This record gives sequence, structure tokens and C-alpha cells, in this order.
Amino acid sequence: MSQQNGQKKPVLEVRGLKVYYETPKGDVLAVDGIDFDLYQGETLGLVGESGCGKSTAAMGILQLTVPPGRIAGGTVLLNGESLLGLSDEKLRQFRWVKLALIPQGAMNSLNPTMRVSDQIKDVIIAHEGRQANKDIKARVLELLSTVGLPARVYDMYPHELSGGMKQRACIAMAIALNPTVIVADESTSALDVVVQRVVAQTMLKVKEKLGVSMIMIGHDMGLMAQMVDRIAVMYAGKIVEISPVRAMFSEPKHPYSQLLIESVPSLKERKPLKITEGITHDPRNPPPGCIFQLRCPFVMDVCRQIAPPMQEVKPGQQVACHLYEKQQDGSFIDVRDVVGNT
Ligand SMILES: Nc1ncnc2c1ncn2[C@@H]1O[C@H](COP(=O)(O)OP(=O)(O)OP(=O)(O)O)[C@@H](O)[C@H]1O
Ligand code: SF4
Ligand SMILES: [Mg+2]
Repeated sequence: MSQQNGQKKPVLEVRGLKVYYETPKGDVLAVDGIDFDLYQGETLGLVGESGCGKSTAAMGILQLTVPPGRIAGGTVLLNGESLLGLSDEKLRQFRWVKLALIPQGAMNSLNPTMRVSDQIKDVIIAHEGRQANKDIKARVLELLSTVGLPARVYDMYPHELSGGMKQRACIAMAIALNPTVIVADESTSALDVVVQRVVAQTMLKVKEKLGVSMIMIGHDMGLMAQMVDRIAVMYAGKIVEISPVRAMFSEPKHPYSQLLIESVPSLKERKPLKITEGITHDPRNPPPGCIFQLRCPFVMDVCRQIAPPMQEVKPGQQVACHLYEKQQDGSFIDVRDVVGNT
């Protein structure tokens, strides 16, 4: 794996993470060996179609996988310390303090019977112990202000807030203990487009203010383009490409990334919408070789036999695809560009 962002050390290192779900017909290989680094202050977007394993990966990274799911392999290091195998008590200390999750549908997970401020206070008190009322109130008010919520929200219950306000309250909770890494799973998906942008802006501001590193999971490539530094594309439990955001949009390398980028609607050029099938194989029984072979327009014999390794085909651009062949001088060619090979 390459050193991104100069020589910065990663805050989070995920290696070979596998998360499987046990079912009567065999294990669903929901996350099947993913590798990536997250750097200080970086936002990494994790994209891919529904069911490709994004939320499962998020829960696995935070060690929140519950049966029928299980972590079937791999390591997760936070600032060099392994999260796998930590005691429940140690993990509890890690969560919120070092690694916070804004789960998918977070706003619906707020307790309807408690004031928003009390729910934020609970997070603080659970980790830091009781403190003077005026101190904790000042902290909660500061948090609400950081996420752009007015002070009156302090006394409100979740049902009194709009969707966007609830989502911002969840962000306030996630940043309450100044975590090193925030994983935000579809934090804007359930909101209308305008509110989505407002919440996204809030997240950007929070990130800049706190210098936190973030994994942002989502479908909206337009929003990703504005929010993230790099994009990891996931397909059927594997990461197939990781590229800086500009390169991902200007020259995506993996055929699946190319399909995703081509599907982004453009006002400048009206083109027919690309409708593509979803994941075509049984997630309990993936084919040998490349995971994308059943949908890939460029499939070759080798793709049906050998799983393509992740290779850095251009500085910062890593892709798992046999179309890229390493040359003697270390550079890569795309075999589609070779004369006689179409
Ligand atoms: N409890 C479960 N039991 C069996 N299979 C499961 C379970 N939960 C998830 N899966 C399967 O794991 C795979 C990954 O699901 P996951 O929720 O991680 O996808 P996702 O990428 O987050 O999708 P979405 O974009 O819809 O949120 C899917 O094939 C899903 O059907
Ligand atoms: S390895 Fe082969 S099947 Fe897989 S994406 Fe590349 S060309 Fe397509
Ligand atoms: Mg999900």
C-alpha cells in the first residue's frame, strides 16, 4: 500500500478485514478482505451499490459486528494499536473517544423520550464521569453551535427537530469527545437535497475545526466530489479502487468505477442514464478470479481464474484489475490501449 499525503502516518490501518454473516445456506461474504489506510485530517469516501458491504465494513472497523455477523479475519489498527481482540471495556473506552460512528439512519436512533442535550451529556458522562452542571451545559451548547444548531435545541426532544437538525444532533454526539476518527454511514441520505448539502457543509466545518479524520459512506458521487480527499470504491465485499477524488472523476481506472462515474448525471451533456444490474453472483458463493467478471465488459480469461491484486498504477491510484500490466520500468499500461487489443 502506498504512502498517501506525503509521508504522513495513517491513523487507521485496515488490513484483510473480513466480515461474514452466517445463514442456513452458508456464509454471506459481506466484506471479504479489504485493505486501506486513513490519514490524519483526511476524509475518505466509501462508495458502492446497495449491499456491497459498506455498513458491514463500518461496523467491523468499530468492532460492533453482532451475530449472525462475525469478523472472519484481518486487522484494524488505530494509531498503531490493534482493535481486534480488545476487551469489551477497552473497546467501550475507544468508542466515541477515539473512534465514533454516525450509523446509517442515525437520526432514528435518538431516544425519543430524552432531550437531545441529555443524550449528548450521557455520552460525555459515561466516559468522563459526572461534572458540574454549568460546565457540561456549556460544553453541550458549544457542541450544538459547532454543528450549527441554535441554543434552543438544548431543551428540545427529537420529535421537535427536523430530519436535518436530528442528523446534526447525531454529529454533535459523535464529536462530543473529540474522536480521532469518525465513520459517517449515509449521514445525508435520508434528507432532501437542500438539507443534505447543509448537513454536508456542517460535517466539513466540523472536520476543519477539529482536524478529525473521517470515513464518509454514501451513494451520492456529486456530494462525494465536494467532500472527500480520496474515494474507495467497493464492489461485492471488496475494495476495487482507491484514488484521489480528482483522479477518480477524471480518470477512474476500474471498469466498475468507470461505470459509477459515467452514471453521474451531467447538465452539460445529456446522455442516456446508465442502468446497470446489481451484484449478479450469490454473495455466499463468489466466482473464482475477479469479483466483477460477470458484469465486466472487458473480461478476459485470466479474470475468471486469478483474483487481481491491488496495484498502484499511478501515484496514489490503486486498482485491482488485470487490465493494468506492469512494465519493466515500473509503469503500467492499460491493455485496452495496446494495438490489436480492444
Ligand atoms: N444480518 C444479516 N444476515 C445476512 N446477510 C446480511 C445481514 N446483514 C447484511 N447482510 C448482507 O451483507 C451484504 C452487505 O450488506 P450491507 O448492509 O453492509 O451493505 P451496504 O453496502 O451498507 O448497503 P446499503 O447501501 O443498502 O446501505 C448484503 O449482501 C446483505 O444482504
Ligand atoms: S479483472 Fe477482468 S473482469 Fe475484473 S474488472 Fe478487470 S478486466 Fe474486468
Ligand atoms: Mg449501508
